[in-house]
Amino acid sequence: MIAPSILAADFARLADEAAAVAGPPGRGADWLHVDVMDAHFVPNLTLGLPVVQALRKATDVPLDCHLMIEDPERWAVGYAEAGAHNVTVHVEASREPVALAKDLRAAGARAGLSIKPGTPLEPHLETLRHYDTLLVMSVEPGFGGQEFIADVLEKVRTARRLVDTGHLTLLVEIDGGINTDTIEAAAEAGVDCFVAGSAVYGAADPARAIEALREQVRR
Ligand code: DX5
Ligand code: ZN
Repeated sequence: MIAPSILAADFARLADEAAAVAGPPGRGADWLHVDVMDAHFVPNLTLGLPVVQALRKATDVPLDCHLMIEDPERWAVGYAEAGAHNVTVHVEASREPVALAKDLRAAGARAGLSIKPGTPLEPHLETLRHYDTLLVMSVEPGFGGQEFIADVLEKVRTARRLVDTGHLTLLVEIDGGINTDTIEAAAEAGVDCFVAGSAVYGAADPARAIEALREQVRR
């Protein structure tokens, strides 16, 4: 799966930018990745619930909301209620991640848990049993256009192994620095869903850029 990140899109033309990556099944974006930042959990500020509500009406592509915010217990369910398909919170920010996963599912969304590059996976494996998506960050969250941190692939391999042996049921997603040079290593490590911001929206033809990423994984 490919999830273009609108962080790298033109914020003045979000509906057009969403349409530029939509396609028939098997082509185009599988999910549209929406980076919500609060200038506290990360040193950047992007967009919030009103923009997600507007996007939800503007596109049929399932929204993948990545909440890089403090106090997700207060805000995350609102994104599920706004119609986000997947709502991901950070394990470093959540006080009650198991309860939050249940609340997200009860509100009709997939529950996602994200983990920063420097955060170990092992202490959170019990929590992960309650989640549908594991988002492994391959850059420090906050900004697009950063270089891929290959060390995090060890966490992807661990998660892949646990999924393949039936110990966890979740989709493994990676976020940060994914492009035609890095996607293959991530795919080999066992990633199911690839977020790509600058590699898609920085390209002259975003739909073609998605195809180029797919071709790289198929080879
Ligand atoms: C970073 C965001 C990413 C970002 C990825 O904090 O979570 O989703 O948009 O951008 P690229 O693909 O340019 O690294
Ligand atoms: Zn993201």
